[in-house]
Parts: sequence; C-alpha cells; structure tokens
Amino acid sequence: IQERTLVAVKPDGVQRRLVGEIIHRFEQRGFQLIGMKLVQAPKEVLSEHYHDLQEKPFYPALINYMSSGPIVAMVWEGHNVVRMSRAMVGDTNPAEARPGTIRGDLCAHISRNAIHASDSFEVAKKEISLWFSDQELIEWQSCI
Ligand code: CMP
Repeated sequence: IQERTLVAVKPDGVQRRLVGEIIHRFEQRGFQLIGMKLVQAPKEVLSEHYHDLQEKPFYPALINYMSSGPIVAMVWEGHNVVRMSRAMVGDTNPAEARPGTIRGDLCAHISRNAIHASDSFEVAKKEISLWFSDQELIEWQSCI
C-alpha cells in the first residue's frame, strides 16, 4: 500500500541551505514527491501542528523558532514512507541520533533539529490536510 507523510525542513534547515540535501535523500531512497511549498508558517497552523506539546516548557520557544523564517513543507509517498522517513530523520535529540540519519549527520541541538516528519500514519493524514489543500497534491506516474 502506498502511504503519504508530511516532511518539513524547519527554518534552521532552510537557513543552513539543507533543503537540497534533504530532498536528495528522500529522492534517492525512492520516494515520490507529490507536494512541496516554501511557507512562512501561520501561527494558527503551528498551534494546531504542535497541539499536543502546548503544556511543555519549551512550547513558546518552539513556536518562535518555527516562525523565525520560511519552512519547506513536502508530502512524500511510498511504501512504508511514514516509518522509513522517521528512520531516515533519526532521533529528536541530535545527541541520540545515529550517524547516517539526517539529524545524526547534520544537527547538533534538540531545539534546532532541521526537519520534521510525521510520527504515525494517522498523524500524517492530519498533518497533510493541515498544511496542504487537495489541489496542492499532485498524483503522477513515472514514464521512464
Ligand atoms: P520534533 O520531534 O520534530 O517536534 C517537536 C519538537 O519540539 C522537536 O522536534 C524539537 O524541535 C522540539 N523539542 C522537543 N523536545 C525539546 C526540548 N527538550 N527542548 C527544546 N525543544 C524540544
């Protein structure tokens, strides 16, 4: 079954010019890009996206950081893409992220961890509809 997941390059990732590197890894793994945009995330979208973290002490700083510059939001499709994306991204805390993962190779601080990927199939569905309209998602077949 084909799954979809939301991947976002966070403001620090965009500012550090990591967008190409991150897209490259997902392309090379064989996933299909079906939606992508550069956005200054609206506060309402962020508060919905991080709804479950509202009570955390780092929540205000998290919202500030995620508003500090544009984000590249993407939808990737493929077999097991939710679980495999999480494995590619690595642990939330870069100190725990294994070398070879995006965070393990490219990040050094938990509050500047460069990338988001949905953590379950159900969450992915919600996040995709939060960040993208139906018209912004494009289904395409390869002809090569
Ligand atoms: P992510 O797992 O993508 O989504 C929640 C984010 O909250 C997480 O990445 C970090 O960017 C941030 N976060 C989680 N724990 C902490 C923490 N202890 N201190 C600062 N930021 C955190």
